[in-house]
Amino acid sequence: MAMQWQWLQLGRSCTVRAYAKINLTLDVLGRRADGYHALATVMQTVDLYDTLSLTLREDGQVRLACTQPELRTEDNLALRAARLLREHTGEQRGVLIELQKRIPSAAGLGGGSSDAAAALLALTRLWQLQLTSEELMKLAASLGSDVPFFLYGGLALCEGRGELVTPLPPCWPAELRWLVLLKPAISVATAGVFGALTARDYSDGSHTQAVCAALQAQRMPDLSHLHNGLERGVLERYAEVAAGRAALLEAGAPFVRLSGSGPTLFTALANLEEAHRLWLRLHKQGYEVYLTQAVSPSSASLTLAAVAAR
Ligand code: C5P
Repeated sequence: MAMQWQWLQLGRSCTVRAYAKINLTLDVLGRRADGYHALATVMQTVDLYDTLSLTLREDGQVRLACTQPELRTEDNLALRAARLLREHTGEQRGVLIELQKRIPSAAGLGGGSSDAAAALLALTRLWQLQLTSEELMKLAASLGSDVPFFLYGGLALCEGRGELVTPLPPCWPAELRWLVLLKPAISVATAGVFGALTARDYSDGSHTQAVCAALQAQRMPDLSHLHNGLERGVLERYAEVAAGRAALLEAGAPFVRLSGSGPTLFTALANLEEAHRLWLRLHKQGYEVYLTQAVSPSSASLTLAAVAAR
């Protein structure tokens, strides 16, 4: 996971960042027998993050405090990650998770999934658990299709239902350096977006293949390959997303794509000042907009490799 971490109070507490992601491209290959959809997608973590502070509790309780009280439910993925890890390992100690939300929820940015991955990694450290990467990946996949990606962070090809992660070298194109994200003022349920897909939304994976090939050759992918098979349905069903797309194009965005199942849209520019002008124009129109950039794990990051037993 691309996250900074920090020990406080002699190993009884730690603070980690959980970064958001965008899908640079997303092919929906088809519907699987288990009801999920087979995907091929390229994801990248971006410098927009939630902060999780975890403090050991000797009384065995797992508790969550959150800057957004409506997220303080038993469904919260960070809380579910902590409970799952205790069940899996028989760990007796508890934890207080203090979650400072910045990533918009149900937005296609993977915020909940990233929180879950951050909790898994930080608790493996805090509770000093001996877990292999395979075990952590399996636990992550049981929490959600996007959670395994966040155990790595950075740039990765994700396949299967999203849980089969192949990390790619950090080779984000300079043309896409500054990302402008626009979050329309609605929430979108992922299951509903997938449920509304039809065969015409399916593709054969060639967009993802072309994007991976371009990135590996350190080339900017052709814009025609920045594709999202979920986009047509979301634009048709949600007028707010279509309006956000039109506003981005009107403000000068060179292209606009949906991230994941949305509703967040993104565009990218090479030049910071141009990106900031675009951001400001949309901000003045009242849109929730973020100016950010790709972020990759550093030596200060708490990653799967740093945490797993082997
Ligand atoms: O895996 P996750 O719980 O995040 O998925 C939420 C819902 O999105 C699933 O219940 C499923 O309806 C849909 N989904 C899908 N195919 C995927 C990922 C998610 O149909 N690859």
